[in-house]
Amino acid sequence: MQELSLYILDIVQNSISAGASRIEISVDEDTAADTLAIEISDNGCGMTEEQLKRVSDPFYTTRTTRRVGMGIPLFRLAAEQSGGSLEISSEPGKGTRVSARFVRSHVNRLPLGDVCGTLTALIRLNPNLDFCYMQSLDGRSFSIDTSELRRILGDVPLDNPDVMSWIAGYFNEQSELLSGETDQTI
Ligand SMILES: Nc1ncnc2c1ncn2[C@@H]1O[C@H](COP(=O)(O)OP(=O)(O)O)[C@@H](O)[C@H]1O
Ligand SMILES: [Mg+2]
Repeated sequence: MQELSLYILDIVQNSISAGASRIEISVDEDTAADTLAIEISDNGCGMTEEQLKRVSDPFYTTRTTRRVGMGIPLFRLAAEQSGGSLEISSEPGKGTRVSARFVRSHVNRLPLGDVCGTLTALIRLNPNLDFCYMQSLDGRSFSIDTSELRRILGDVPLDNPDVMSWIAGYFNEQSELLSGETDQTI
């Protein structure tokens, strides 16, 4: 996979399989510290300590369709190849948090890619789940929380095409504001 957004999609897929109703995704960049951190947390079924120990092993999976689970090992590899690391914490019945840290300027650090496309696809395909996306750059941030949108929208479903295009437009506008302002201060 050539883009971090595809790894995010894959890790969020684990949260969905774990029965989560709310999934939080954050992308935090700090140019001074030269870090890019991605965190995905869910309120799904969680993992026991035993499961958690085995989750870094590609031969561990609870899926029955394929004998090898590669999602987490591949995400860890992507982090480690850019001088970073991956941590997972989980509690049965509570949920799971996957945190990856990358060295932002590392030559092997993959680009973020189309996070907007990933997020809108997740919302469109899972309109009954709540997604909260937060992105920050050097302390400035924006967020999109579908539970807030749901309150404003009332009976209008999140996968309504007008709502989807508003979400995409808001995402693009806000991420341009984030990166644009940094360019001026360099
Ligand atoms: N967010 C999560 N909540 C509960 N269990 C998880 C979560 N993420 C991963 N797991 C467990 O770890 C296993 C390995 O995950 P992964 O490496 O992505 O491979 P795969 O999804 O192909 O099985 C999953 O099959 C599942 O049992
Ligand atoms: Mg997986």
